Amino acid sequence: EDPLPLTGRHILVTAGPTVESIDPVRFLSNHSSGRQGYAIAESLSRLGARVTLVSGPVALPCPPGVERIAVRTAREMLQACESALPADAAVCVAAVSDWRPETTASGKLKKDGPAPPALRLVENPDILATLSHSPQRPALVVGFAAETDQHRLHGGLKLARKGCDWLLVNDVSEGRVFGGTTNQVLFLDGKQEEVWPEMSKRDLAMKLAGHIRNFLAGPQVMP
Ligand code: C5P
Repeated sequence: EDPLPLTGRHILVTAGPTVESIDPVRFLSNHSSGRQGYAIAESLSRLGARVTLVSGPVALPCPPGVERIAVRTAREMLQACESALPADAAVCVAAVSDWRPETTASGKLKKDGPAPPALRLVENPDILATLSHSPQRPALVVGFAAETDQHRLHGGLKLARKGCDWLLVNDVSEGRVFGGTTNQVLFLDGKQEEVWPEMSKRDLAMKLAGHIRNFLAGPQVMP
């Protein structure tokens, strides 16, 4: 069997949180560690793919052989992704901040006003949905979704709304997953669903990379 079945393929992976500044010292972000996305980038690279990893700020080293593009905000992440196209597949694992402050104060906000400052938020671009609807859409677009309840229902709706091909839904109730080393997902492809057992993020990455390899190898047969 070919040890490098993804040779010649280009795959885009997003990972980590985004960071949206309120002022020079404060920001909006989330608890994403980047571990799952980095593991996926590494697994795809090991199978021979050229991997572009567009990453928010995380404390992880860049996996060997992977090209990392470091970004902070959702808008920077989108721009880096669009510049990285064309790609054969895109795997969006980043925990993108849904909103950002409408404005970023140029100086540190002061506490001594009459009332606490109001934070007005505006919506960030949806990178997964944008890539799914791009004229340069990769043949395969994969998303993740963190849900606390009704995984099938919310996952199915999200798959359709985002326009991606596969969605891996993970359960984040009871503080699971974020920052942890294992993951448990429901795999949806719009036709069928598969419950994947709890496994390490590394094993999940290898399993997903295998599915991507099968998809890109064949006449687009489903795994
Ligand atoms: O809507 P939700 O955040 O649950 O969707 C999760 C999926 O969408 C993930 O794959 C995430 O990387 C992607 N996403 C994105 N851009 C956003 C929000 C989510 O790419 N602004």
